[in-house]
Amino acid sequence: MSNGTQREQWGSKMGFVLAAAGSAVGLGNIWRFPYITGQNGGAAFVLLYVALVFVIGFSVMLAEIAIGRHAQLNAVGAFRKIKGGAWPIVGWMGVIAGFIILSYYGVIAGWTMAYIVKSFTGLMDAAKAGTAADFFVGFITNPGAVIAWQAAFMFLTIFIVYKGIGGGIEKYCKVLMPALFLILLVLIVRAVTLPGAGAGIEFYLKPDFSKLTTGALGAALGQAFFSLSLGMGCMITYGSYLGKKEILPGAAIQVCFIDTAVAFLAGLVIFPAVFAFALEPGAGPGLTFITLPNVFAQMPGGMVWSALFFLLLFVAALTSAISLLEVVAAYFIDEMKWSRTKAAFIMGGIIFLLGIPSVLGISGAIPKLAGRDFLDSADFIASNVLLPLGGIFIALFVGWFWTDGAKQEVDNNGAVPFSLYVPWLWVCRVVAPLAIAYILITGLKW
Ligand code: PHE
Repeated sequence: MSNGTQREQWGSKMGFVLAAAGSAVGLGNIWRFPYITGQNGGAAFVLLYVALVFVIGFSVMLAEIAIGRHAQLNAVGAFRKIKGGAWPIVGWMGVIAGFIILSYYGVIAGWTMAYIVKSFTGLMDAAKAGTAADFFVGFITNPGAVIAWQAAFMFLTIFIVYKGIGGGIEKYCKVLMPALFLILLVLIVRAVTLPGAGAGIEFYLKPDFSKLTTGALGAALGQAFFSLSLGMGCMITYGSYLGKKEILPGAAIQVCFIDTAVAFLAGLVIFPAVFAFALEPGAGPGLTFITLPNVFAQMPGGMVWSALFFLLLFVAALTSAISLLEVVAAYFIDEMKWSRTKAAFIMGGIIFLLGIPSVLGISGAIPKLAGRDFLDSADFIASNVLLPLGGIFIALFVGWFWTDGAKQEVDNNGAVPFSLYVPWLWVCRVVAPLAIAYILITGLKW
């Protein structure tokens, strides 16, 4: 909208769904979901997670897309245009969450890039010798190498955002998302047929509700918001590039479904392998990077599978990172009238620098805070506090303050009735705000 030109748009509805799914599917599904599930006891947590995704996650996602498409603006501008008052603060919180999340996201994504190369240079030997964990720790505690990979990743993210919507983001997501899905299917076959895989399948799929703690509620909610890219205006921003003809509830449910399917499949690879190799499911952020090389080492052509997997994980991370930077960039483009080039490069550069403390925290150069290193703390604050808080306000906004406008967006001015309109409205009005508030207050275990 700056320079008086027409706002960019997705090339097609499919383009939007894939780009939004590209934002949603990322490290959250393949790196974060398995280790959070492992830390919270397995199958019962998975059920809780899925319920939260489809009741609260879906509702907030639809609310965000509706706000974005209506306003055709970035997260801050959208609230300002529709209601003004204090509402733009919600968008602001989102921009800040974008800074925080992308700062450490770029670090983990850098690990995945490094692992593409390492697949050919020693990772398989380490796995065969039973030292995949030492190999991993050796790498992530070497700040020079990790920062170099993080820089490479951030550069690619900046470059695609600078290229813009249709030509950059959409083009890549369309090809790479389906490829990721296919390789996960191959890996599941290998993982579930490993000797000893059964215990992992049981851990992952047979619920034991006595393992659910109150902390699990907070973790499941945080995971849902993180994984669906909710609560920080990402879907507002992506929705703002959507044409008026598209049908929003269908798009939202597709994104929720794809995102959950990928996370679920990732668990089906990781947990059988964790148990087959006698690893610890609650091991934390290293889980994927330690478990999977063991699986690959057991496969013919292991290094190729390994490289392919980390390549796709890197791509999934890239399509998410792009959306994180786009939230920040769109703000500076729409509101501050910056050029796309300036917004992408300057803000991307600042975010890269903000990631460095996360790297140094892991190598021990920065001390831990109450048992969490810097990266873990940033992740906790963003995912378990800022995103759910954003979700409360977005739900309240649509449920109480902008109800008529939201109705027109979700049923295209009455042209396409939305059969779940009333339940959705009440989830936004009451269920989501109360549930999120409750979980935030009681479930937050630092
Ligand atoms: N959803 C992304 C993932 O699962 C991360 C993300 C969070 C992206 C918030 C955008 C906004 O990896």
